[in-house]
Amino acid sequence: MKKIITVIGSYNHDMVFRTTCFPEPGETVTARKLEMFSGGKGANQAVAAARLGGDVCFITKVGNDAFGENAKRKFSIDNMRTEYVLRDMKTPSGTAAILVNDEGQNCIVVNPGANDKLSPNDIDDCIEAVTEASFILMQLEIPYDTVKHVIKKADQMGKKMILNPAPTVALEDELYSKLFLITPNQTEAAALTGVTVENEVSASKAAAVFLEKGVQNVIITLGENGAFFKNKDQEFLVPIQEVEVMDTTGAGDIFNGALVVALAEGKSWRQAVEFANSASSIGVSRMGAQSSAPYRNEISV
Ligand code: RIB
Ligand code: NA
Repeated sequence: MKKIITVIGSYNHDMVFRTTCFPEPGETVTARKLEMFSGGKGANQAVAAARLGGDVCFITKVGNDAFGENAKRKFSIDNMRTEYVLRDMKTPSGTAAILVNDEGQNCIVVNPGANDKLSPNDIDDCIEAVTEASFILMQLEIPYDTVKHVIKKADQMGKKMILNPAPTVALEDELYSKLFLITPNQTEAAALTGVTVENEVSASKAAAVFLEKGVQNVIITLGENGAFFKNKDQEFLVPIQEVEVMDTTGAGDIFNGALVVALAEGKSWRQAVEFANSASSIGVSRMGAQSSAPYRNEISV
């Protein structure tokens, strides 16, 4: 039987404006194109995991609107369990305005909407999704109290808790020791550890800070330079293959979704990071976040 992966996090409706460059304050730029995609870090990670063959439960909260309906429908097309897609009757679904420039870089503004209403009580109502899971994957686009609640519950149940600390908020020290794995990008790693992360050497220093705080395993994603792994026994950098960059939105999310699938399949750390790198590099070569998440047969490692 496949191990169950429970992802707990946000869903956003992404409005992606393609522009030549980003506007300066006070400037107006004309977009070449506006496209609508399903996004949200939680949903992106859940969909990526499901497309790569994970048995995925997704706990999220959408609004009472067409975006929320559409999201649920799409999740079931991707074979995710959708019984934990909750709905807030008074708040709109989360939305994101995303600008993507010609280099494939992005700027994002998120209105959390219903994501902000995913409460600790909601988690208790969905507790079987936590009880049945082997791995729990979370980000920080839902209320901090809810994240804390999940980490504590998962710890009591002896679950493997993976935290992708995006977007970064300061975390209480007691939470770190309950994490099986933390997966910041270099900016997030720097914000959480105080170590500027630029290369393998500084990534190792930042990772050491997380290990000292009690996290069991650390992966710092370094964009085009790949991903760095460290635990008490080993450390290594896994470079990423070069691709033509189209849209980097959600690259980290696809990395996390792929990683948890590989871990649930019992792959080694190195194999898991290679698998995740390969999935995210396919993602950056295509438009959108969720829409760019690859299927299993597209990955060769
Ligand atoms: O990580 C990318 C995601 O961040 C986008 O899909 C957007 O919705 C924001 O949550
Ligand atoms: Na993409």
